[in-house]
Amino acid sequence: MARRTLLKTTLSAAMLAMVLFSACAPDPSLQLISPNMVILGEGEVFVPPTPTPRPRIAVLTDEEIYAGLPDTIAPLMPGDSAAGEALTVPHGCTGCHQLDNSLVEIAPTWFEIADTAVGRARQTGEAGPALYLYTSITDPDSFVVSGYNSGEMPQTFSDDMDAQDLAHLLTYLLSLRAEAAVQEQ
Ligand code: HEC
Repeated sequence: MARRTLLKTTLSAAMLAMVLFSACAPDPSLQLISPNMVILGEGEVFVPPTPTPRPRIAVLTDEEIYAGLPDTIAPLMPGDSAAGEALTVPHGCTGCHQLDNSLVEIAPTWFEIADTAVGRARQTGEAGPALYLYTSITDPDSFVVSGYNSGEMPQTFSDDMDAQDLAHLLTYLLSLRAEAAVQEQ
């Protein structure tokens, strides 16, 4: 009888210890290194992952798309999309940004970037997608896309390109949208 009680006591103590130990174990989710962890400097805004369903630029008016663009650029919109596309090669954009979803390790994809920009503008409080793209190009560190670090995209484009070039480039990026991609397939 005494042995049984001892066994029971030992078992209960062991179970209690297990419960206590498991309660002390660290939350496993806290040990994961989030892919969204980015180091931000002062004045830099974190851009969270794109929401689902993605907003579409096709539902916006030109006024909504161009909202908030600086006075130097707004009167030049829309520019020439083909001229904008041509600028992406000498300026090295396409060395980092891909038109499809491959190689997103280096830089965010330009696949349907116009649609993406609608969501990003809403998330960051920019007046519209064109302004979001403009700011991302001329002052890349003001928004840092989820999964990337600040300082990776060159900071020199506002000096390298005049207003006309930027208007062409924005027009090109705003043309990379869902319907165009669907028609091409
Ligand atoms: C050396 C690589 C590199 C080059 C060259 C580069 N970018 Fe980027 N770009 C990045 C990275 C990395 C990010 C994400 C970090 C950030 O938000 O600053 C980014 C972000 C962007 C964004 C925001 C994308 C989004 O999904 O919100 C736009 C727009 C953009 N770049 C346009 C351009 C244009 C236009 C050029 C050429 C004139 C260019 N980039 C050249 C690396 C590059």
